[in-house]
This record gives sequence, structure tokens and C-alpha cells, in this order.
Amino acid sequence: MDGRPITDVQVREVGLRDGLQMTATFVPTADKLAWIAAEAAAGVRSIEVTSFVPPKLIPQFADAEDVVRGALAIPGLEVLALIPNLKGAERGFALGVPKLDYVTSVSRTHNLKNVRRPREESLADFARIVAARDAAGLKGRVQLAAGLSTALGCSYEGPIAVDEVRRCAAELAAMGADEIMVADTVGHATPVQVKAVFTAVLAETGDIPVAAHFHDTRGTGLANVVAALDCGIRRFDASLGGLGGCPYAPGASGNIVMEDLVFLLEGMGLRTGVDIERLLAVREIPARSLGAGELHGALARAGLPTGWTPA
Ligand code: COA
Ligand code: ZN
Repeated sequence: MDGRPITDVQVREVGLRDGLQMTATFVPTADKLAWIAAEAAAGVRSIEVTSFVPPKLIPQFADAEDVVRGALAIPGLEVLALIPNLKGAERGFALGVPKLDYVTSVSRTHNLKNVRRPREESLADFARIVAARDAAGLKGRVQLAAGLSTALGCSYEGPIAVDEVRRCAAELAAMGADEIMVADTVGHATPVQVKAVFTAVLAETGDIPVAAHFHDTRGTGLANVVAALDCGIRRFDASLGGLGGCPYAPGASGNIVMEDLVFLLEGMGLRTGVDIERLLAVREIPARSLGAGELHGALARAGLPTGWTPA
């Protein structure tokens, strides 16, 4: 035992990446690290802390290396960072980031807009990244998670065929992904569709864990979580105060709210390891840099119900 609480579901904070990539104001490195430390102390043990993209493209992440170094010093925290290509992966390898989240889109148009190359090139690059990691002797120390953006709908292409998602997942699994992450980047999904997509993906992924990344653009985010739970998914991305969105997907807005997700899961008897009151208090930190109006959330608005107890 490593002293960590037993959890039934892993909740992962992505606001520092998904949220801040949409924010024009540069959040000082010290404020990012204070947010990470406070949320880790509240029990969120897996945090995507930054993005290894060109600083010219997204200046918010110009301090990626410093944020990662600071986060790696927090005991018990699994540090994650987004990578769009091999160059991003090399930046992650150099720092020994334990988990890198690679981004590809199922929508060919979104892939072109987001990472400026055809989907096939992105898929092939993942194989190169796995090979580079293994050649550097980092297999087992650096996990490579493969994300499928726009898997449940795309601002450009509209509906995405389940079979396209299944094929992409199968390719990434065969290339050696340590996890497959299925994302509803622009919040198109409803629970019936979630079940169809996750069932198809799970049929291809064998023992590889599958994670869900939902945006609450149209109010279906937590309903989609329940649908994914029914499929057996036990890893969920969310962001504090629902910060989030994709700069290259028109109409994208925030992720499901971490506080509301924890409330839902704990209320369903699923342990998250998170202290919900401490989590609510963390909101003050990003609110200082971004303004309290940027943070959303039903639980923060309504408060915990009288007599509420965690799982
Ligand atoms: N980190 C830092 N610098 C990088 C980089 C990375 N991951 N990838 C490329 N670069 C640099 C190159 O070295 C090159 O530098 P130079 O101009 O000094 O020679 C420059 O950026 C352009 O490189 P290129 O490979 O031509 O990239 P591109 O312009 O085709 O852009 C991506 C491709 C993938 C780097 C870019 O589209 C991207 O970062 N997309 C991610 C968007 C995103 O974050 N979306 C939201 C998350 S889902
Ligand atoms: Zn997202």
C-alpha cells in the first residue's frame, strides 16, 4: 500500500491544458503550480498540467517545462501533458513526464485544422513516438495515451461514423497505446451514442484502459458519464469550474465540471479519492487570475445537500 485512498474511478484534471489553451490572459507559472498543488492535495491524483505545443502558437504554454518540473515535485501526483507530434513527445521524454496524451482527431477536417496534417499522418506519427520512447529506454516509465478527438461529433463535419472511431482506436491500440482516450471535443454526444461508440472501441482495445473526455457544451456531459460508466469506463477527464474548449473547433466550450463529476460519482457510491470541500476551495486559485465569472458549476452554485456523505 502506498497510502493513497482506494478509488473506484480515476478523475483527471485537464483545466490547466484544455481550459488555459482558450484563455488569452497568461496565467503566471506560480499560479498554475499553486492550482496543481491544491488540487492534488484535495485528492485529484492525475493532472494534465500543460501542453507541449509551439509557444508561438499557444503562448499560454510557453512555461510548459517549468510547470512540469514544479508538478513533478508534488508527491503522489501523476503528471500528464498533451503532445501533438514527435517534437512534443521529445520535450516530454526529456523531462521524464510519466504520461503523455497524444492528440489525433477522428474527423479528418478537425485533424487538419488542429494539427495541420492529415489524420493518417497523425496516426503514423504515433507509431514513431512509441518507437522513439522505446529506443530511449523509457518504456514502462513514460506512458503514451492516444486521444481520439471529435470522436462523437465535429464542428466541421457533423456526425462521425462509429466505425471510423473504431478503426482509429484499433490502429492506435495495435501501435502500442497505453490508454485510448475518447473525446467529445465539441459536446455533441448523447448517452445512446456514447454507448454505441464506447462499446465499439472497447471491442478493439482488449486490456488497454479506455478513458472518456466529455465537454458539456450542450448540457449532456454528466449524462454521458453515466452512459460511459455503464460501459465499464472508469477514467474520466474533467476541469475545475468547467474551464475548457478547443481553439481549433468552432463552438467548443467547457469540459464537464470536476466538482460536479465528483459529486455525481461519490453519490453513486463510486470512490474518487477526492475531498469535495477541499476541491471546491481550489476554485479560488484560478479565479484570482481568470476572474470568478469564468468558473462554472452547479455544485459550487448550490452547495452540498444537507447531510451529504461521500461514497
Ligand atoms: N513544441 C515546440 N515547438 C514545435 C513543436 C512542439 N510540439 N512542434 C513543432 N514545433 C516548431 C518547429 O520546430 C518549427 O519551429 P521553427 O519555425 O522555429 O522551425 C515550428 O514549430 C513549425 O513546425 P511544424 O512541424 O511545421 O508545425 P506546424 O506549423 O505544421 O504545426 C503542430 C503543427 C502540431 C505543431 C501545431 O498545429 C500544434 O501544435 N497544434 C496543436 C493545437 C492544439 O493545441 N490544439 C488544442 C488541443 S486539442
Ligand atoms: Zn477537450
